[in-house]
Amino acid sequence: MDKWGDQYMENSKKHKERKEQFTTSSGIEVQRVYDVTDIAKDGSYEQKLGKPGMYPFTRGVQPTMYRGRLWTMRQYAGFGDAKQTNARFRYLLEQGQTGLSTAFDLPTQIGYDCDHPYARGEVGKVGVSISSLVDMEMLFDSIPLDRVSTSMTINAPASVLLAMYIVVGEKQGVSMDKLSGTIQNDILKEYVARGTYIYPPQASMRLITDIFSYCANHVPNFNTISISGYHMREAGSTAVQEIAFTLANARAYVDAALAAGLEIDDFAPRLSFFFNAHNHFFEEIAKFRAARRIWARFMRDEYHAKNPKSWQLRFHTQTGGSTLTAQQPDNNIIRVTLQALAAVLGGTQSLHTNSRDEALALPTEESARIALRTQQIIGYESGVADTVDPLGGSYYVESLTDEIERQALIYMDSIQQMGGAVHAVEQGYMQREIQSAAYETQLRIEHKDEVVIGVNAFTVDTEEEPILHKVDPHLEIEAQERIRDVRQKRDAQTVKQTLIDLKEAACGTKNVMPYIVEAVRAYATLGEICDVLREVFGEYSPEHF
Ligand code: 3HC
Repeated sequence: MDKWGDQYMENSKKHKERKEQFTTSSGIEVQRVYDVTDIAKDGSYEQKLGKPGMYPFTRGVQPTMYRGRLWTMRQYAGFGDAKQTNARFRYLLEQGQTGLSTAFDLPTQIGYDCDHPYARGEVGKVGVSISSLVDMEMLFDSIPLDRVSTSMTINAPASVLLAMYIVVGEKQGVSMDKLSGTIQNDILKEYVARGTYIYPPQASMRLITDIFSYCANHVPNFNTISISGYHMREAGSTAVQEIAFTLANARAYVDAALAAGLEIDDFAPRLSFFFNAHNHFFEEIAKFRAARRIWARFMRDEYHAKNPKSWQLRFHTQTGGSTLTAQQPDNNIIRVTLQALAAVLGGTQSLHTNSRDEALALPTEESARIALRTQQIIGYESGVADTVDPLGGSYYVESLTDEIERQALIYMDSIQQMGGAVHAVEQGYMQREIQSAAYETQLRIEHKDEVVIGVNAFTVDTEEEPILHKVDPHLEIEAQERIRDVRQKRDAQTVKQTLIDLKEAACGTKNVMPYIVEAVRAYATLGEICDVLREVFGEYSPEHF
């Protein structure tokens, strides 16, 4: 190098780097610079990458991706009673969102009616209260179910809420085969991270595969499960653990469906996934790309699925709730923007953007609108949706994709050695791994090795009081009056018979879905149906949690 060059290099050594080591959330070292030697050295790079819309889908599940159709802007919403949530749904649709996503309150999620003693104080708090078909009809009043896709974040009682949705569609004149949407229906992550489980694992897996089979035959456009990494990441997992544990759970669902006698290509195209979009921008993009490639290979080469739709990992993303800070809440708009951009550059099919105030309360109408506008600005103004997988070929992103894939496969192999995800969950393996990752993160934040603006750096002395969403305390009483009215007006004998039939089916090997649909049609309540299944399956109280 010439004199100037040597001097330049000498000078650049003087400025020490900010940190000894730069790493991602998964502890992957971030090099100072990447070049062609950091991507597939054996020339298999092109093969690994593939083309958009083709196996292994690294670059996206559709050939044209967002040039053909933007991702679904699907804001998670639900609070109070069905009327209030219906109003929020319709507001968000008017503001341009393109899919619905339903948050249920905890009594609904754990299969208790709003007047059950365990429901006291929780009715309508973290989501909408649904105890019977009457509530569900109110929830979707004036919303055409043949023209909108609805996601329902419901797990243990997913079969009941799906049955209610089917009957509401019927009452709107929409046949089952015209309904589209998703039920989360992912019980394994509930044992690991979220906690809204009711029944023991084997019984839960039976309910899930009954739904797979029923929808394959009657509700073909409904995604029967949203296998979720989101909540495990919220519980503190790393990005690698998030996809590894999610895909391990996914394998358990596929194995259970095959064991129940289903054909792989009959149900696999309607499996869907749900991931977090967290703070480390490039790691998140690489994480999504690695997950698609792993899943495509498993479905084609291990499960021998023939339909390319079975190989596609289609996913919804929610920006990281756990990254939101109560301090300086407007900063969260910027965090969410970066996280949403990572999800888009990572090829998500559907996206929820968190609101700035959600570290403090459910979103107000205004903060929910800003969150939706964030997606619209990315989609319509930034240009990032105009080409497929714009970061494809980046030395850094491809190298990170390879490394995340490599580390995730190591985790998945260990879980396979334990006998699969159900055993790993029962042994508390995933829970322990997540807890230790969460502990490491907390230590980094406390030692200020990990900066959280407004919390451990760039703080302010006084914070303004933001305007927050409030849940109406009278709503619990009104909901209880409504459910009592339902019980009085319905045909008690018919309800009784449908519950007897359901119990008999649950005790045997019949698919329980048709019996749950009949019970819902007769206005049996959520609690009554879940109680019949409690009688048959018992409740799960694992020693690990
Ligand atoms: N070219 C051709 N066709 C295209 C296309 C393109 N570029 N882009 C999309 N399409 C087609 C798709 O193939 C699809 O058609 P099909 O149904 O006939 O296959 C249609 O357009 C709709 O596209 P997607 O299926 O990609 O989009 P959806 O939004 O309908 O579905 C999903 C996305 C991920 C598959 C689905 O499962 C979904 O919507 N999931 C949402 C889950 C969700 O919202 N979860 C929230 C959970 S909240 C929570 O748990 C957190 C809380 O606890 C805190």
